[in-house]
Amino acid sequence: MNRVLVTGGAGFLGSHLCDRLIEDRMDVLCVDNFFTGTKPNVSHLMDNRNFELLRHDVTFPLYVEVDKIFNLACPASPVHYQHDPVQTTKTSVHGAINMLGLAKRLKATILQASTSEVYGNPEIHPQIESYWGHVNPIGPRSCYDEGKRCAETLFFDYHRQHNLDIKVVRIFNTYGPRMHPNDGRVVSNFIVQAVRGEDITIYGDGQQTRSFCYVDDLIEGLIRMIASESGFTGPVNLGNPDEFTMLELAEQILKLAGSKSKLIFLPLPADDPKQRKPDISLASEKIDWTPNVNLEDGLKVTIEYFRSLLAAE
Ligand SMILES: NC(=O)c1ccc[n+]([C@@H]2O[C@H](COP(=O)([O-])OP(=O)(O)OC[C@H]3O[C@@H](n4cnc5c(N)ncnc54)[C@H](O)[C@@H]3O)[C@@H](O)[C@H]2O)c1
Repeated sequence: MNRVLVTGGAGFLGSHLCDRLIEDRMDVLCVDNFFTGTKPNVSHLMDNRNFELLRHDVTFPLYVEVDKIFNLACPASPVHYQHDPVQTTKTSVHGAINMLGLAKRLKATILQASTSEVYGNPEIHPQIESYWGHVNPIGPRSCYDEGKRCAETLFFDYHRQHNLDIKVVRIFNTYGPRMHPNDGRVVSNFIVQAVRGEDITIYGDGQQTRSFCYVDDLIEGLIRMIASESGFTGPVNLGNPDEFTMLELAEQILKLAGSKSKLIFLPLPADDPKQRKPDISLASEKIDWTPNVNLEDGLKVTIEYFRSLLAAE
């Protein structure tokens, strides 16, 4: 029982998950259409006999034999998911239908990488899993938010209707090496600007807050969730509850990168949530998970990654 399928396995989180599964001696099938993922993210695994890479788009059916499925395929940053919004919704919804159909045939446990975006611009703070969210169904972010919400619906209907063993995690902002340098996410944006000595662009007044989870902590949460007791479906929040304003994040990055970049302030984009912070009591109770890596340690490793990436350009 150790053949594991990772969709979106050549992306940021997916490639770290593949690393961890290979370390745990699993047989890993990584499936990706390379929309935002890259071969270099997994090239170090190509010689491993337990690793296989398949170019495939999850909006089409897939016939393989595996025991567990991690469904991560979906562009995750606004720049990428708004590039082709129809394809984004298709990836979430058709991708979920295809992977759930596969899991049903194989009687495999399947984990869905959902997102804190299902809470939209939340009216309660921090967000608990029982909160239904405050989401705009017709805005530029809706292809992602509503696609992920519909995928959750499909997961729970397959569970109720077909007794499928599902696990749903709602991932909050995660950062670390192998993030895309140009995806517009705040951590990678600030680091790239700081390392290049460019102005740091802060949207709004910089007082909006976010919480940031280091990638290793997040991957540990995914592994614990898929191994959780049968019948525990989630949804469960995975994220780091330590909250920082964008201004604090920018200042911390400038200090750690030893950068002299200046801060400049730009208008806030549409539907940008003001606050986002997970309540992780359910993850702590059910899968004994809490993040361990503090922001400073995680940022140091991430800054080093971007430094060598940009130096090679
Ligand atoms: N990183 C975060 O902070 C975060 C937060 C919440 C949720 N998530 C979720 O976690 C998952 C992974 O996110 P990430 O940060 O690694 O993003 P990413 O863009 O690096 O990874 C997504 C991967 O999916 C692949 N992909 C996209 N469409 C596909 C398709 N139709 N068929 C096959 N592969 C496809 C991409 O090429 C890429 O490798 C996503 O589902 C995302 O929604 C991530």
